Amino acid sequence: PTQRSFVLIKPDAVRRGLVGAVLSRFESKGLRIVTLQLRQVTGEESDQHYAEHVERPFYPPLRAFITSGPSVALVVEGDEAIEVVRALNGATDGRKAAPGTIRGDFSLSNRENLVHGSDSQESAAREIAFWFPELG
Ligand code: CMP
Repeated sequence: PTQRSFVLIKPDAVRRGLVGAVLSRFESKGLRIVTLQLRQVTGEESDQHYAEHVERPFYPPLRAFITSGPSVALVVEGDEAIEVVRALNGATDGRKAAPGTIRGDFSLSNRENLVHGSDSQESAAREIAFWFPELG
């Protein structure tokens, strides 16, 4: 079925000039960009987006990182988009992500892993409504 997934291209990717490379992975796979915006994520937005992680020990540095510079927020659409985005992104830890994936090819970090993708239909619905309420 056609699905939509929320993607955040994180500040490390923007700083490193990898936005085009990351977008190319999604576009060449056949996913359609529904909307896209360069935005500076605030601490409050981070807390809401990562609500399920705020109590974790890794959250304070993650919050500092995700607010450290502009990110690119977008919504992509296509058949099985949620699983497809997760497969293109690769494992969370860039050191363990398979070569050929975005993280596997460009990240050597568990935190600065370039890209976020919704992990389920529930989180996709929640994240899209949060970041792009006009798409609700
Ligand atoms: P993301 O897919 O955006 O979801 C949660 C984020 O937290 C994850 O990508 C990483 O950036 C970060 N993260 C997850 N686990 C760890 C960890 N063990 N140490 C540091 N950062 C982590």
